[in-house]
Amino acid sequence: NWTMVNIADESIEAVRERVGGKRAICALSGGVDSAVAAALVQRAIGDQLTCVFVDHGLLRKGEPEQVEKDFVAATGVNLHVVDAQDRFLAALDGVSDPEQKRKIIGREFIRVFEEAAREIVGEDAAEPVEFLVQGTLYPDVVESGGGTGAANIKSHHNVGGLPEDLQFKLVEPLRTLFKDEVRALGEQLGLPSEIVWRQPFPGPGLGIRIIGAVTRDRLDILRDADAIAREELTRAGLDRDIWQFPVVLLADVRSVGVQGDSRTYGHPIVLRPVTSEDAMTADWAKLPYDLLQKISTRITNEVREVNRVAVDITSKPPGTIEWE
Ligand code: XMP
Repeated sequence: NWTMVNIADESIEAVRERVGGKRAICALSGGVDSAVAAALVQRAIGDQLTCVFVDHGLLRKGEPEQVEKDFVAATGVNLHVVDAQDRFLAALDGVSDPEQKRKIIGREFIRVFEEAAREIVGEDAAEPVEFLVQGTLYPDVVESGGGTGAANIKSHHNVGGLPEDLQFKLVEPLRTLFKDEVRALGEQLGLPSEIVWRQPFPGPGLGIRIIGAVTRDRLDILRDADAIAREELTRAGLDRDIWQFPVVLLADVRSVGVQGDSRTYGHPIVLRPVTSEDAMTADWAKLPYDLLQKISTRITNEVREVNRVAVDITSKPPGTIEWE
């Protein structure tokens, strides 16, 4: 009778045995995997765990609050928040190239995490941090050739590798599980459904959904448009039918429109809802017309700088899910 309750209990016991009385740290990304891994380890070792959340300013509306308030409320975890928004914006200043953006975001993330980790490690010399918790899933293990070894955060799905001199033993309590099992486990552990059922979201976040350079204003525009699309998708009850729903701001493109009595010259927003099994291939999602209409009307009414909404009807291949 291999239920989620068994899995939770046995995993908690296994973590307790492995970590013993030592301390552990965990980087929270806002995604479901790191959240479930952290919640599980917190159940096992309580205050011996410290979570680090790097707020890089590239998350969607409400997501930092979900980590800082809802996740903490649900788990009671020790959370160390680093507000690194200015630092990321400065590092991304004037950069339009997608791979360059990824490189910069990955590099800054590691630096900030490393600084935070050193602070936490240094807090109590008598009990240094020995373990790093990661939300590695079974498909990740298979993808990376089953290797264990040093702390290697998957470079594509997360934000880069950790530096070699930051040596921790790894705790990966989700290593044998698939995504749907991780979600069931998250519910079992009492995590909020907004976290458990979150759609996959890239590590570089909204940084790769602004086509053009990333600025604070552009992030605000995209965040508002994205929040409307998500809200309406949820209201239509279609969250779990859609694999991902990127909303993309074509920041370097302008088109002419008319609103009220005046001509506008604003930016287009692209909706990119897709269905998929594993993100390797994807189909563009045939969202109901009335839902698309609602989203379009709300975005153009409520987000001043946007005067046009387009829907991406390209499958993967040849398109990728993200635009960058
Ligand atoms: P593409 O766009 O290649 O995306 O079809 C496949 C899946 O990977 C996600 N993705 C990323 N995740 N860092 C991440 O953590 C990245 O740089 C990155 N690029 C794409 C994408 O959201 C989709 O789930």
